[in-house]
Amino acid sequence: MTRRPEVVLGVSGGIAAYKACELLRRLTESGHAVTVVPTASALRFVGAPTWAALSGRPVADEVWVDVHEVPHVRLGQRADLVVVAPATADLMARAAHGLANDLLTNTLLTARCPVVLAPAMHTEMWEHPATRENVATLRRRGVTVVEPAVGRLTGADTGRGRLPDPADLFAECRAALTRAEGDTSLPDVPGGPTEPGEPAVVSARPADRSDDLAGRRVVVSAGGTREPLDPVRFLGNRSSGKQGYALARTAAARGARVVLVAANTSLPDPEGVETITVETTAELREAVLAAATGADAVVMAAAVADFRPAHRAAGKIKKREGEDPEPIRLVRNPDVLAELAADRSDPRRVVVGFAAETDDVLANGEAKLARKGCDLLVVNRVGEGVAFGTEDNEAVLLDARGPREEIPRGPKEDLAHRVWDAVGRRWSGERDIRPTSGGG
Ligand SMILES: Cc1cc2nc3c(=O)[nH]c(=O)nc-3n(C[C@H](O)[C@H](O)[C@H](O)COP(=O)(O)O)c2cc1C
Repeated sequence: MTRRPEVVLGVSGGIAAYKACELLRRLTESGHAVTVVPTASALRFVGAPTWAALSGRPVADEVWVDVHEVPHVRLGQRADLVVVAPATADLMARAAHGLANDLLTNTLLTARCPVVLAPAMHTEMWEHPATRENVATLRRRGVTVVEPAVGRLTGADTGRGRLPDPADLFAECRAALTRAEGDTSLPDVPGGPTEPGEPAVVSARPADRSDDLAGRRVVVSAGGTREPLDPVRFLGNRSSGKQGYALARTAAARGARVVLVAANTSLPDPEGVETITVETTAELREAVLAAATGADAVVMAAAVADFRPAHRAAGKIKKREGEDPEPIRLVRNPDVLAELAADRSDPRRVVVGFAAETDDVLANGEAKLARKGCDLLVVNRVGEGVAFGTEDNEAVLLDARGPREEIPRGPKEDLAHRVWDAVGRRWSGERDIRPTSGGG
């Protein structure tokens, strides 16, 4: 077992601090464990809750908190990479002069891993001889100082000093980690978890997650289908599509070609993913079955309506004075998951279902896994405020021929990675023996 690369993401107090959220998302989605260390000024731009929610870890911004764990040296010593984005003129001046007057500069002084600084500031500040000398000093010491981009700056002015795109910064981070791996291999952690309560990574070393699905074609469904009653009304469900989108994004980040069949979501199309929008179960079925031909995996995260109204009124159903409306008769919809699972024309294709249960979660999940015949089933408890629309999820991952895996509460991206890890194990032919006790 290996541990995830430890990344410290330092954020200093520039207007571009919000862009570091996107860099953080890219890092976590590709399997890096990230601790965010904002300066006091950075926290005036983007608050600690944002960093904590996106990283899944408490935010480290104080030398005087948890002093028994000596955070002022521990973070830097443990890091495989320290990246600061944006790096202010002030932060670089302090780093160049070896100051250690906050947690981020302490971390920079104790880090022995690669350090990447991504400056962002007004052109005048960037061109000032003091900043030029600080940058030169830092580069001489082996720090990677990324050239700022040219473009729109704070306010109306343009020029050099803009923070490069998060995608480019992510590429810089990966390159720095890869270079370091070439020098000394990232350490193995026997036994798994990197921190108490953090899930063990049981698949290939997660640094490799960034392209471990390369060459694979996968289909993900997301959202919730709607069944029209008339041209203005429908029967629907509360699914936001966030879990399915996290699955699509993480698969793409790990190198897979992804088709996302999205039913009634209001989320932006994930980058690098072919997104097909549908409304009804019939449309979803058609799109998923078409995309599933030749696919290596199909993950059915969409909440697909079990029933639809037997009749769809051609015009709006009118309210009539003194009359109750006609009862709505429902008919069953096709079971898309069972249909996919029953089609074993390609035995290597892995079919993953999702089960949203309100009670008897595990028993109902086990029964559904057996009934549907899919390979893996992600079972989560849902209800008011739980799972639907939230940023977090927790679940039990059932494997038709392996042990069950508890996935603790965490960002939907984490759960998505665990699903792809399990799919990857299926592809590589790993077989676990389901314990007879039902535990594990
Ligand atoms: C609205 C606003 C935007 C700022 N943007 C930048 C910036 O992009 N780059 C920079 O170097 N400083 C910028 N500053 C100044 C820094 O916030 C200031 O130098 C601060 O002391 C930096 O602290 P830190 O390096 O500890 O984060 C900005 C200040 C304000 C009020």
